[in-house]
Amino acid sequence: MSGGSGEAGATDGGPSGEGASRATAVAPANIAFVKYWGARDLERAVPASRSISMTLHRCVTRCTVELRPDAAADEVFMAGEAGGLRLAAEEFADPVGRHVSRLRETAGRDVAVRVATRNSFPSSVGLASSASGFAALTLAAGTALGLDVDADRLSILARRSGSGSAARSTLGGYVEWPSAEGEDLRGPARRLAAADHWDLRDVVTVVDTTSKEVSSREGHRRAPTSPYFERRLELVPGRLEAVREAVGNRDLARLGPVLEEEAVDLHLVAMSSDPPIFYWSPGTLTVMEAVRGMREDGMEPYFTVDAGPNVHVICRPEEEPAVAERLGALGPVERVIRDRVGPGPRLDPGHLL
Ligand code: PMV
Repeated sequence: MSGGSGEAGATDGGPSGEGASRATAVAPANIAFVKYWGARDLERAVPASRSISMTLHRCVTRCTVELRPDAAADEVFMAGEAGGLRLAAEEFADPVGRHVSRLRETAGRDVAVRVATRNSFPSSVGLASSASGFAALTLAAGTALGLDVDADRLSILARRSGSGSAARSTLGGYVEWPSAEGEDLRGPARRLAAADHWDLRDVVTVVDTTSKEVSSREGHRRAPTSPYFERRLELVPGRLEAVREAVGNRDLARLGPVLEEEAVDLHLVAMSSDPPIFYWSPGTLTVMEAVRGMREDGMEPYFTVDAGPNVHVICRPEEEPAVAERLGALGPVERVIRDRVGPGPRLDPGHLL
């Protein structure tokens, strides 16, 4: 393996019939304002309801896919903490391999690949990377395999990885998935507004890097067993409308309460599923309380939490330094990552292989 040249262009096509062809993509993580929790078809990640997210800027995955016509099997590498690439463990390599196989089938090409991925955020802090990871893999592998990956196709192909939220990481700014047009929940994501429409910040507050997580896939599977699952689905259309309006009008006072209701309700459903799932740790509640305390002091941050204990605190740019400082000073907080709304995925010349 050679180091990334950074000069060869986003894709390298080898002479036809021989040698390597590779592509590198960088794709962002996202934080859901209205959550995807529960599926109509879990295998294909067809959600039970629409969701809306904000695409992040700093938290991204870089992924290089190289075609290897002469190789017998795929190889998957990931960047370790020290930065160097190492062969990925099975639990990471298997879903990657399955997704590459789906894309190969779609492209009608039977060729082995080498995949390398690196997250910009430390993998050990318990921040989900499946959305950025599968969006980057889909764009890089789709491009290397010669698929026409326009925005709609990319969103649908990324969703088929099994990570529904990857369907939203295929666009920048504020994103709804599936698009509100039509009844079909199998459709692609659509952008509600570009990143430069509204500069919101996300102070990612890491409180627990050790707890063993139940996968979101398992959470989606158990969700319908909660007595509150159907009730939440009744409330979602009103929340989607409120968030669409809040984003359209840059109205944080309208967005914030919906953000917190949605975060709590996801966990209400998770905690009352059979068997129950408890994602929060004591630090999660400490951060929520601090966020409410800042509001009592006249500031305007709001929290949301995905399928884990760490808290995303959404705030205005002018309040971000103070919010990050106050959260960083709390006992259970291990670190804060200061992120913001950002652009969608791109092909990039900085190859990892
Ligand atoms: O993309 P998945 O299948 O890992 O599910 C994501 C679930 C949440 O992150 C908890 C909510 C969301 O909409 O992102």
